Amino acid sequence: MSDTISAGNDTTSPKDRTVLRTQDLSKSFGAIEAVKDVSLDIRKGEILAIAGDNGAGKSTFVKMLSGILTPTAGQIYVRENGVDQPRHFTSSKDAEKAGIATVYQGQHLTPTNTVATNIFLGYEPLKTGLRGSLFREIDEERMIKESNQLLHEIGFDFDPRSLVSELSGGQQQAVAVARALIRDPPIVILDEPTSEVSTTGTDKIIDLVRKIPQDGKAGILISHKIDIVVDVADRIAVMRDGELVEVLDSRTNVDRMDIVSRMHKEREV
Ligand SMILES: Nc1ncnc2c1ncn2[C@@H]1O[C@H](COP(=O)(O)OP(=O)(O)O)[C@@H](O)[C@H]1O
Ligand SMILES: [Mg+2]
Repeated sequence: MSDTISAGNDTTSPKDRTVLRTQDLSKSFGAIEAVKDVSLDIRKGEILAIAGDNGAGKSTFVKMLSGILTPTAGQIYVRENGVDQPRHFTSSKDAEKAGIATVYQGQHLTPTNTVATNIFLGYEPLKTGLRGSLFREIDEERMIKESNQLLHEIGFDFDPRSLVSELSGGQQQAVAVARALIRDPPIVILDEPTSEVSTTGTDKIIDLVRKIPQDGKAGILISHKIDIVVDVADRIAVMRDGELVEVLDSRTNVDRMDIVSRMHKEREV
């Protein structure tokens, strides 16, 4: 994207930086209202965290943004050339085409395949010339080279030819993140990227999340770990029982205990 701006000295209004927006987005599973009327905007150059207890509706909300679940009601808008276009995603590929890449909770990588194969899954580059256009031969050399580059960029340096099953939890999570970043998407969603990752791995993944807004991308980070949320997010959307309780600006006055109490508090009448 050529019109991206850096977050640090960004003077455009929040409204102008919106890349994705939901209006009264809802999802029910039978009688369970997992997400209720959530209206939220996501802006380039920021990390928006979604905080909330287990069962608050965080994963269900982002699964609608990433095309895995169809909303029961409400609308998703993607900003294109300054105009909010209503979008109805019917698959994750649909959302990926609209620029939304997701690292899912408990990502399903193929452990018996190589790192490079997992990163490029579904988007394998073909060889140049007839070998590619006619015989559909996959350019594995390019996959390895680009995987290597990307892993290096995100702070990891294991061999992209290794099998995923040989990697540590943190390295596997890095593969999942690399898979999301390989097509340079403007919007990156990470759902609990540090679950099942060691402390060292967690630090590296968090460093990686911090880099997302630097070139004008928008990041959505879901975590129930309040320290991580306060540490990396620009804004914090607190969800409770499927509802959006509040959106806090974490660069001003955010208090951990306050967020935790908002996550748990019984509705006051
Ligand atoms: N596929 C599903 N079928 C039925 N209920 C679901 C399904 N997915 C999530 N839920 C329910 O929706 C609510 C929100 O879940 P979820 O979005 O996973 O929360 P979170 O990610 O915040 O932990 C929970 O009550 C959960 O049990
Ligand atoms: Mg979840």
